[in-house]
Amino acid sequence: MSDEYAISGEYLHLLSEPAWQALRTPVTKALGGAVGEATLLDVGAGTGLGTEVLAAAVPDTDVVAVEPSPVLRAVLLSRMAAQPDLRQRVTVVAADALGADLPARLGAVLAMNMIGHLDPDGRRTFLRRIAERLAPGAPLVLNLQPPAEPTPVPFSVFGTVPVGRHTYEGGGSAEPSGPDTVTWRMRYRVLDADGTVLHEDHADYRWHVTPAEVLLADLAEAGLTGEVGPLDVVRAVRRS
Ligand SMILES: C[S@@+](CC[C@H](N)C(=O)[O-])C[C@H]1O[C@@H](n2cnc3c(N)ncnc32)[C@H](O)[C@@H]1O
Repeated sequence: MSDEYAISGEYLHLLSEPAWQALRTPVTKALGGAVGEATLLDVGAGTGLGTEVLAAAVPDTDVVAVEPSPVLRAVLLSRMAAQPDLRQRVTVVAADALGADLPARLGAVLAMNMIGHLDPDGRRTFLRRIAERLAPGAPLVLNLQPPAEPTPVPFSVFGTVPVGRHTYEGGGSAEPSGPDTVTWRMRYRVLDADGTVLHEDHADYRWHVTPAEVLLADLAEAGLTGEVGPLDVVRAVRRS
């Protein structure tokens, strides 16, 4: 399987940190009701920014972090292993959302910034797999990401982060590429102190747009009741 994040993997962690500073509070709130006696799961864990929030929200509980990209998994594994508490608790699994061997009972599930990687059938299968295993009252936490329709998104710079004398910059644009997909064209740059572009990378990936009403309907079909909260964080629990 090719690694969709082979190019962006160098930049993703650094450029995702500011977004996760904003997400930490709504995601922690959405994780309320997690069941500490069952395993916690982060699907498409990336470099572990959400895994850390999940582990902090439910202390002393085992966490499984599923991540298909080798380059992101290397960052994830290194970061988890560098923190004594997480080194004990977090098991990193090389698999994707549909192929991963999931624990029988889940105390909370995080799937942030990843649902658009799944096509509609894959999304529904994934939600059913989670719903079957979620403990009563335990939350599945995921999010909506723009665009909600397959419309063009003009180029913009998403963020810049200085490290040493270099500044890392990430930006992108999207074009419709199917009835429910856009293709994001990401641009990553490394700038010198005087603004000279030292390095530029591009990465394209396909994203299945998922409007709120479609996601909520898919959650309902899987037996889950979902609610959209601040920063488009979605919390779903099993219907009782
Ligand atoms: C934008 S990153 C988000 C990473 C992390 N969840 C975060 O919010 O920082 C999307 C993640 O989804 C993962 N991913 C892509 N396709 C996937 C699939 N089919 N199953 C599980 N994860 C997938 C990618 O490897 C990547 O880690």
